[in-house]
Amino acid sequence: MSLHDEISKRRTFGIISHPDSGKTTLTEKLLLFGGAIQMAGAVKARRASRHATSDWMKIEQERGISVASSVMKFNYPHGGCEYEINLLDTPGHQDFSEDTYRVLTAVDSAMMVIDSGKGVEAQTEKLMEVCRMRNTPIVTFINKLDREGLDPLELLADIESKLQIECVPMSWPIGMGKSFKGVFNLYKNELNLFSPSQATRHNDAVHIADLDDPRLDELLGSQADELRESVELMQGAAMPFDRQQFLNGGQTPVFFGSAVNNFGVRELLDAFVELAPAPGPRAAAERMVEPDEPDFSAFAFKIQANMDPAHRDRIAFFRICSGKFTRGMTVRHHRIGKDVKLANATIFMAQDRAHVEEAYAGDIIGIHNHGTIRIGDTFSSKEPLKFTGIPNFAPEMFRRIRLNDPMKRKQLHKGLMQLSEEGAVQVFRTVLTGDYLLGAVGVLQFDVAVARLKAEYNVDADYVGTDFKLARWIKCDNAAKLKGFERQFAASLALDSDDSLAYLAPDAWKLRYTEEQWPDVKFFKTRESL
Ligand code: G4P
Repeated sequence: MSLHDEISKRRTFGIISHPDSGKTTLTEKLLLFGGAIQMAGAVKARRASRHATSDWMKIEQERGISVASSVMKFNYPHGGCEYEINLLDTPGHQDFSEDTYRVLTAVDSAMMVIDSGKGVEAQTEKLMEVCRMRNTPIVTFINKLDREGLDPLELLADIESKLQIECVPMSWPIGMGKSFKGVFNLYKNELNLFSPSQATRHNDAVHIADLDDPRLDELLGSQADELRESVELMQGAAMPFDRQQFLNGGQTPVFFGSAVNNFGVRELLDAFVELAPAPGPRAAAERMVEPDEPDFSAFAFKIQANMDPAHRDRIAFFRICSGKFTRGMTVRHHRIGKDVKLANATIFMAQDRAHVEEAYAGDIIGIHNHGTIRIGDTFSSKEPLKFTGIPNFAPEMFRRIRLNDPMKRKQLHKGLMQLSEEGAVQVFRTVLTGDYLLGAVGVLQFDVAVARLKAEYNVDADYVGTDFKLARWIKCDNAAKLKGFERQFAASLALDSDDSLAYLAPDAWKLRYTEEQWPDVKFFKTRESL
């Protein structure tokens, strides 16, 4: 098979959702359809143990488990093609972190799950913001139609207004909750009747000539007219599906169903593999890199530490951007200017890890290392490249670190630098006092940071609160203005681990006010890894 053919059958994506909307349930059903797991419950059980986090031992257990579930690869045959799916985990509960954002820099598309009873929720909005940075195409699944929820038109309006993306329903629900009858596939003119079931079989579809077909009345009774009316209303408002708009992230095709009942999931997956793009070109500082270029290139987007203090090794997850990986190949680690042999890469099949013999653009491989790899590092077989678009994201919470043994200042510094290179936590030093501030997106990052400082660097530290809640990296071309800004906000400035200057604010109001008062200063929510 040619390189091009190998790449075009790959789909690399992540799920964006708010906790409890059904991501885990949907993941499990997708894996069942892909034949990757035999039984419902496997993913769920794993997550249940993942939830039991709080003390050190449990965090350790949690990290170990999430290594295995960071990426899941499975095959899915559809329309004569054996698709190879890479589903990247986007941790959403207690382990929501900057990693969740960064995973989205390594995907080609995303599936958005919305709880029909809740509409768009906070975490989905945040993740959508990240998708928007690269105009990632999004396929939407509105879940839990077997429960009473919001009106479908209201749900679409909510998505459109909160997420600024045009919705194009591909199916339309008939009733909801107790009166949920199924969905009408608007593009295939097919009726899928709902029956609660855990089975993996295709839900039997009934082909209908059009919405005026009297068979609809036979099958749906009075709900047939309701369906006609709401589809008419919806079609009056919705734009037709435009593939280019979808690929630019401007439009999202929308499906309705019930993950727990395995309803609408097969249709979703079928449409997903057809619509979602294969691995595309990636921007490097030097040029665009096409996926089917023969030379291998990849970047590290996630580093997973082994929490066992006896093993300081880490797994770096690489997204392959071009060419083919073969086991044992030598590639250049450009930041440190050294050749490294990728002897034992791991690929993450749905449940087991397997050694990879070969992998292609779009695939994710895990490489063991001893702390030499940083987030954003580029590896390639020849040409010096530096992939862009793998930024640091502004932390959304801060803690001031308190060192309990003043003799360990050096170790503390070393440990924090290492943790920040791995992307485990962000480290800032206040300009005025030189105090260490840790910044994170999820609160578990703080627990992991102190636990690792203790286990790996023998540093006893804990946290005290701070008033800072928001950070923005700043830049100003006017040196005099920058000086003025630095003078006025000396107590609110900090340098990150790469000495980039950041302004810290106690709340959104203060940030906005400062931005307005200082039009010459640019405030950035992300910073490209150096
Ligand atoms: P998450 O990963 O997004 O956090 O969500 P998860 O799949 O764990 O689902 C959250 C809850 O919603 C679970 O219930 C799950 O069973 C339920 N759920 C998922 N899909 C559907 C659906 O289509 N319809 C209905 N009615 N419920 C759904 P739970 O009570 O928290 O857990 P469990 O005891 O059922 O496992």
